[in-house]
Amino acid sequence: MNTYDLFKKIAFQLDPELAHTQSMKLLSHFPESLATFMGAHENLEEDEFDYSVTLKDGNIWTFPVGLAAGLDKNAEAISFFTSIPFGAIEVGTVTPKPQEGNPKPRMFRLIEEKSLLNRMGFNNEGMEKIFSNLMKGDRHGKVVGVNLGKNKTTPQEEANLDYQKLYAKFAPHCQYLVINVSSPNTPGLRDLQNIESLKEIFVALKEEREKVSTPLYLKISPDLALEDIPAIVDLADEFKLSGLIATNTTIRPDLGVGGISGGLLHEKGRVVREKVLEAMKGKPGLDLIGVGGISRFEDLMHFWKAGGRVCQVYTSFIYQGPQMLLDFKKQLAAEMRSRGVTNMNDFFQSLSAKE
Ligand SMILES: Cc1cc2nc3c(=O)[nH]c(=O)nc-3n(C[C@H](O)[C@H](O)[C@H](O)COP(=O)(O)O)c2cc1C
Repeated sequence: MNTYDLFKKIAFQLDPELAHTQSMKLLSHFPESLATFMGAHENLEEDEFDYSVTLKDGNIWTFPVGLAAGLDKNAEAISFFTSIPFGAIEVGTVTPKPQEGNPKPRMFRLIEEKSLLNRMGFNNEGMEKIFSNLMKGDRHGKVVGVNLGKNKTTPQEEANLDYQKLYAKFAPHCQYLVINVSSPNTPGLRDLQNIESLKEIFVALKEEREKVSTPLYLKISPDLALEDIPAIVDLADEFKLSGLIATNTTIRPDLGVGGISGGLLHEKGRVVREKVLEAMKGKPGLDLIGVGGISRFEDLMHFWKAGGRVCQVYTSFIYQGPQMLLDFKKQLAAEMRSRGVTNMNDFFQSLSAKE
């Protein structure tokens, strides 16, 4: 049993949100020592392989698996998450003003299904506080993205202004930004995924993006109709986004109000990701950051074989802890060795050449 398994035995006795907030407190106060204690402090010794992936936006992920948004909403444990083998991390969702989110309880474990149900509703400390946390954290030279959302009280027709404010605040200080219009827990948010609303957001961001051009992604829901995806990809291309993040959580009213992540999302997420990858063919400026139910090395292999490059995890990290990243690394090393390659570019080429 590793240290995380022991920790999980205790944490899983607690209410999920309480376990989360207490863990975040610990991780923010003792980042380096907890990374070492969990046996997951980034191995700084020479490795025979180079796991880094350079995206089309120029960002270099040190490993093809990153941390998804929502775990470190307030950017308080950047120093911890960048000292374990995540290739990049995403903080937020941040809204302009602080907000409480939905009434508790609002986070639930579905242990058998290795899934979570949440209806947090963008609880966060707001852009000023999160900005100051972001500036304080030690990033260990890694890519840090900031995920942006509108306040619940902002009228739908003023959502653009929230994204504009947030872009202006964070663009000079992070490696990428994400427009999040795909959380099921802010009323009306997902309606902003229609082409007209998206266009308005991107038009509103134009001036700020001309001043400071930070890679910009759009995070989409797995509940979009598949036939609507190509038009969203076209729009992302037209507005010179860096790509899409697919997917956010899915709704399953039979399981409760909120968004489902983890095992129960995997299949739906995979189908959406493959649709996005297909629509991105012939669009050399766009990348997909894959997320949703990724928990096994096989899932990564599947994603890479479909043409994906980097992905993120949230729920599987809760169930497996940092050991998962070490296991992924070991399995990737074995694959690279068997293919006779030493870097990710050659690895990806070996996938398309052989299979
Ligand atoms: C408790 C919880 C809170 C989340 N909060 C956010 C959020 O604030 N912003 C966001 O873009 N995604 C959020 N997500 C979604 C994740 O980033 C991710 O897209 C989703 O969980 C699917 O990945 P997974 O199956 O690896 O968890 C949240 C997920 C969970 C479980």
